[in-house]
Amino acid sequence: MAHRVAVIGGDGIGPEVVAEGLKVIEAAGVRLDTAPYDLGGSRYLRDGTVLDDATVAEWRSFDALYMGAVGTPEVPPGVIERGLLLKMRFELDLYINLRPFTAPGHDFVVIRENTEGTYAGEGGFLRRGTPAEIATQGSVNTRHGVERAVRYAFDLAMTRRKHVTLVHKTNVLTFSGDLWERAFNEVASEYPEVSTAYNHVDAACIYFVEDPARYDVIVTDNLFGDILTDLGGAVSGGIGLAPTANLHPGRVSMFEPVHGSAPDIVGTARANPVAAILSGAMMLDHLGETDAAERIRKACDGAESLTGTTSQIGDAVAARLAR
Ligand code: IPM
Ligand code: MN
Repeated sequence: MAHRVAVIGGDGIGPEVVAEGLKVIEAAGVRLDTAPYDLGGSRYLRDGTVLDDATVAEWRSFDALYMGAVGTPEVPPGVIERGLLLKMRFELDLYINLRPFTAPGHDFVVIRENTEGTYAGEGGFLRRGTPAEIATQGSVNTRHGVERAVRYAFDLAMTRRKHVTLVHKTNVLTFSGDLWERAFNEVASEYPEVSTAYNHVDAACIYFVEDPARYDVIVTDNLFGDILTDLGGAVSGGIGLAPTANLHPGRVSMFEPVHGSAPDIVGTARANPVAAILSGAMMLDHLGETDAAERIRKACDGAESLTGTTSQIGDAVAARLAR
């Protein structure tokens, strides 16, 4: 039976890389029943639609969502990011943002809490536009939200090298840091086989560059995770290789590359589709097609050395899957 997948190509290079991901999934022998959704900055500019509730309701009956990238420079910051991508993550409660980094010398996973923190949108303006204006932007950290992310990290570590690092900034963010630290330590006590570490986020940036081998599973908050995973991509073969799963285990989940819509290279065929292809593999894991997912990952081995246009790289990966 074909899996039902909503496909959001999005803006910029999004549709280009998603096409290659779908091509590779087909080459791996997995049948998808896809439904395209025209959403993103270009759609917004055309008719004002960002993401309506009826669409979100429809998505709940799909098996997965596969997305390219959203955002265009013509739309003010936040409209599409908050109104489409974050709405998707929040409304579908995709509380795990899973970002694996694999390259020679790199084999670690970042579990980024995906529904809270500074992304929750707490805050506001007072006297905006006046000399006395005030802007606040709070960070929301619930015990429930933190604990489920931490627990996911420990469960994942049990299937890997059994090591979890908490990354935060407990020396400055003494309220949220305290909650994270206590939740982390309490969950850790349930996993005696898993060893743990703690790094401040600034120090973690150094280790990402100088000693990434110390990491197995990292768990961190939404904003630290956003920043760290761009760095993770940059140090492990480039952002063009880094995939993401936005998960609510057991429910419809969303898969997208870490990278953005890259409007500067749209239409040049220079976009690397490997991140989208690997995101497709993560989607297959979620759909229970673990064998095909593994074969796609194998076909992407050494992908940092693949050259050519977007579709040539997609073709090369698909050709390696020919059975
Ligand atoms: C990401 C992106 C998004 C984020 C943006 C586009 C809102 O940078 O998925 O990492 O900050 O989460
Ligand atoms: Mn990001």
